[in-house]
Amino acid sequence: MTFEEEFAAKFEGVDEIVKKYLPPEEGLQKTIFSASDYSVRNGGKRIRPMLMQETFALFDGRGRSIEPFMAAIEYIHSSSLVHDDLPCMDNDEYRRGQKSTWAAFGEDMGVLAGDALMVYAFETASKALQQNASPVNVVKAIEILARKAGVFGMIGGQTVDVELTGKPLSDEQLSFIYRLKTGALIEASMMIGAVMADASQEDIAAVERIASNVGLAFQIQDDILDVTSSTEVLGKPVGSDEKNEKTTYVTLHGLKESQDMVAELSNEAVRDLQSLAGENLFLNRLIKYLITREN
Ligand code: IPE
Ligand code: IPE
Ligand code: MG
Ligand code: MG
Ligand code: MG
Repeated sequence: MTFEEEFAAKFEGVDEIVKKYLPPEEGLQKTIFSASDYSVRNGGKRIRPMLMQETFALFDGRGRSIEPFMAAIEYIHSSSLVHDDLPCMDNDEYRRGQKSTWAAFGEDMGVLAGDALMVYAFETASKALQQNASPVNVVKAIEILARKAGVFGMIGGQTVDVELTGKPLSDEQLSFIYRLKTGALIEASMMIGAVMADASQEDIAAVERIASNVGLAFQIQDDILDVTSSTEVLGKPVGSDEKNEKTTYVTLHGLKESQDMVAELSNEAVRDLQSLAGENLFLNRLIKYLITREN
């Protein structure tokens, strides 16, 4: 099987898990279910739950529970995108080839859907307890989910991103933003895979460092695509960073150096992954695919 075929097959399984935990669209507050559902269902590569599942497999998590956390990380990611597109943030009207949530449901529902998905993620994650997971591991994983989503993670990064928009940034400030706004959720994905497979503290710490590099590479690639891709392929507006006068890795270092940096970070991540005891060839390829991805 080629990587593409394997990816497509795994994607189906991951996508099904992500959708399975969404609440039914009923009740007087139906609109919030519809808006949340819209934000999650409208595609997306499902990279984070896939990284989680593959890290879980790397540490031989077979027979243990991971599904509620796979859904939860994707809900948090969706929440971050719904808020990121709002007029007060990046003001983008398209996401994954469709109207962004606020553009389809109104700004009020955009704010509420982002909040709803963030909180529902934790409600979903706690369902792991009903699936025979170790309560200690569930608490550890929920702590990681909260820390990496919140002020020490994604929200912290978005704060600095928004606050410093239009201003010149140093390399240190830029990498702080990237490691938090994007890296943190990728760290959470891989760390939770390790935690729920009962990996050692030492291995979890190694996975955190590896994932941080994957996250940084992922965001630099996102910046590259914002310049080199097309709205059709990307499903979201290209040139969003320029429109918002964002300093990005590309504006600081140019395309070539950015591409080299993505390759370097990804290769380093795969090398470090290979120094761990287990082996997961698909996970290595998945990380390398993030360099060459076109959307
Ligand atoms: C986009 O993430 C936002 C970033 C953190 C760069 P993805 O590229 O994973 O978006 P989807 O989920 O596939 O749409
Ligand atoms: C997104 O960064 C980071 C998030 C936490 C959502 P961007 O603003 O570059 O993401 P896109 O390009 O809109 O997906
Ligand atoms: Mg943004
Ligand atoms: Mg954006
Ligand atoms: Mg972007």
